[in-house]
Amino acid sequence: MLDFNAKYKEYLQFFEKSLNNKLNTLDKTAPKVIKDAMSYSVEGGGKRVRPILCYAACEMLGGDITAVEELALAIEFIHSYSLVHDDLPSMDNDDYRRGKFSTHKQFGEAIGVLAGDALLNYAFETLFSKKDASDNYFSAAGIIARYSGYSGMIGGQVYDLLNEKNAAFSEEELYKIYLNKTAKLITAPLLAASCLQNKKYFDELSEYGYNLGILFQITDDIMDAFGTLEEIGKTPHKDDAENKLTSIKVFGAEGAKDKAKEHYLKAKNIIQKIDTTGFLTEFTDKMYLRKA
Ligand code: IPE
Ligand code: IPE
Ligand code: MG
Ligand code: MG
Ligand code: MG
Repeated sequence: MLDFNAKYKEYLQFFEKSLNNKLNTLDKTAPKVIKDAMSYSVEGGGKRVRPILCYAACEMLGGDITAVEELALAIEFIHSYSLVHDDLPSMDNDDYRRGKFSTHKQFGEAIGVLAGDALLNYAFETLFSKKDASDNYFSAAGIIARYSGYSGMIGGQVYDLLNEKNAAFSEEELYKIYLNKTAKLITAPLLAASCLQNKKYFDELSEYGYNLGILFQITDDIMDAFGTLEEIGKTPHKDDAENKLTSIKVFGAEGAKDKAKEHYLKAKNIIQKIDTTGFLTEFTDKMYLRKA
């Protein structure tokens, strides 16, 4: 029987150690403030959902987590940069992130922009640091690049911003935003792990990641509407304040909870069929019940 909590802790510890080692190699001659801002943005407070998905998928497919170490780090660097930019005054304008001041609030807006940029570059530097990279590894890295770029997370952020000014809204538009801004960065670590195993369960993991990602964003919306700063580590009621198109706006609070359940059940149904370790199945439950 899998001890889920022990495994979860093991993955978290592996990630924090891997991150720490990586940040310790930051160039001594580079400006201190940018290194401080990069570290501040990526260290502490994050749930590390995407690296954990990458490790768990890798092990489920029979791989060793050291094989995905760089991939998992790169995804978390990209995710952290997306949050730094998401919080900027020109985007969601949020002063809090992960229970502390957002990066631009702590370091000023210009350094906030540059720290996000620097984390993005550092993600690719990290990907390229892999020794003896295989063709499969380059496929995995390619997925991370594509799913986080203009036709992935960035594209989703653009749809999100454009819809702030759109009085007419639809379920279709909402799903377009969520698929791109959130589900793609949740799916990328799963597919990257699959690539290393010759795309084993690629389609299933893609479908799983989609449903888990939509569930994740709906839950984020619910927490924005009903959580507190202490609970969620970011300013609550921000979606209403910024006139965002959210699941609550489209379905109402109860409807959004129903939708979350629908995607949770779909995700669980898919993962259960292929999950040899049981970790991702329990992780899916954890994502459904999360309060932060
Ligand atoms: C927040 O992501 C942004 C969304 C996609 C909803 P997380 O909830 O994974 O943020 P951290 O990394 O735990 O802070
Ligand atoms: C963010 O969505 C998705 C990203 C790609 C960063 P939100 O704007 O809802 O995320 P939070 O609530 O600020 O974390
Ligand atoms: Mg946003
Ligand atoms: Mg935001
Ligand atoms: Mg949100």
